[in-house]
Amino acid sequence: MAVTANQEKMEKIVALCKRRGFVFQSSEIYGGINGFWDYGPLGVTLRRTVEGLWWKYMVTDRDNIEGLDSTIICHPRVWHASGHVAQFSDLMVDCLECKKRFRDDQLQEKGVCPACGSKKMTEPREFNLMMKTYVGPVADEEHIAYLRAESCQPIFVDFDQVRMSSRQKLPFGIAQTGKAFRNEINPRFFTFRSREFVQMEMEFFCRDEESMTWYDYWHAERLKFYSEVLGIPVEKLKIHHHEKLAHYAKAALDIEFEFPFGWGEIEGIHHRGTWDMTRHAEYSGQNLQYFDQERNERYFPTVVETSCGLDRMILAVLCNAYDEDKAPTQKEGKEEDVRVVLRLAPILAPVQVAILPLSNKLNEKAEPLYSELRKSFRCDYDVTGNIGKRYRRQDEIGTPFCVTFDFDSVNDNAVTVRERDSMAQERVPLDQLKAYLAGKIIG
Ligand code: GAP
Repeated sequence: MAVTANQEKMEKIVALCKRRGFVFQSSEIYGGINGFWDYGPLGVTLRRTVEGLWWKYMVTDRDNIEGLDSTIICHPRVWHASGHVAQFSDLMVDCLECKKRFRDDQLQEKGVCPACGSKKMTEPREFNLMMKTYVGPVADEEHIAYLRAESCQPIFVDFDQVRMSSRQKLPFGIAQTGKAFRNEINPRFFTFRSREFVQMEMEFFCRDEESMTWYDYWHAERLKFYSEVLGIPVEKLKIHHHEKLAHYAKAALDIEFEFPFGWGEIEGIHHRGTWDMTRHAEYSGQNLQYFDQERNERYFPTVVETSCGLDRMILAVLCNAYDEDKAPTQKEGKEEDVRVVLRLAPILAPVQVAILPLSNKLNEKAEPLYSELRKSFRCDYDVTGNIGKRYRRQDEIGTPFCVTFDFDSVNDNAVTVRERDSMAQERVPLDQLKAYLAGKIIG
């Protein structure tokens, strides 16, 4: 089968992630484990940066959102109440010839194995996606516990604790970020569909008659986050309004990004009605109704949720940033070469400033500059290889600014700042460098 340009682009992004230590297969020396990914030095920096920006945008900058960090393993009744134990499943089919398993809804042709072409397939069967473990020394039915399949359920369970300790009144939200686990039948598209991933969720509790206004508000806010904070152009995003809704929901939509492998959901905005609170009240036997003092009335708050996957967001950021252009080369007989460049917004780049002394002899003067700049920015210090190669290494990981300390710097107290995208170079006096970079990086 011919490899399309988009497939090739995706393969290049995966290769770059591995080569430069953004993301690679978990347990690789044992042959890897399907659906699990490790984030290397640059990847973990990018991941923490994006998570931090989400937290600032959703929690720190708002008075009406509180944070939570709950456990991954909860009382198993939580997952009975949420409906996951009974219903969180996909229909799957097995190939009787090659023994591979597929999601029924992803088969191109019903009853034909996409791996070996056999027509000997089982009937579709339910396959629960919850991951199980045992709590305590006895591995029996009674001690089964589940790794959370979504990070939001503990928010509903802890609603009263958070509300009382923070003295919030409706409308207000509770947010948390953290790991979720799903035994996906068919993990694929790199980190897009993983079995262990991070979710960033916010549950907004309000009066039912105001819930659609809040739904529209959060829809607009979340789009703003992608374009204004992450720098993803709106034309690379698409809204998919759900036609089939859960019986308790008034609306639901997905925010999709155009990945090289096609449009894929990165975030869901869901009207969840009073479903979760009602179910937890029923299963726990606790009164979880909210007392509205203004109205002198008790009721279950209605919930509007914003739910995104951090790994999918990182993948969208990387796919959006990946580019190739032409740059001067030092190879003999060639003037230009293909340059791989990650056009990451400076606020996201794992390395924001690279300090590159032209020679080892300049270390004594250049190192103090590095020590000073790293107090304000994420910095790298690289003295190995010719300067052209060093620029390329930084371009490939998305470093927006390279500062070259050369022999003239010693006398004129200035350095050359090279901007990643335009490759334009500017001489900047050392005493103005920090302010110059801050203006470009922080804005
Ligand atoms: N609490 C609602 C909820 O979990 P969801 O649509 O199942 O809704 C929300 O998941 C987000 O979590 C998705 O938009 C996606 O970004 C992320 N996500 C879900 N399953 C994933 C998987 N297997 N791998 C990576 N991210 C996933």
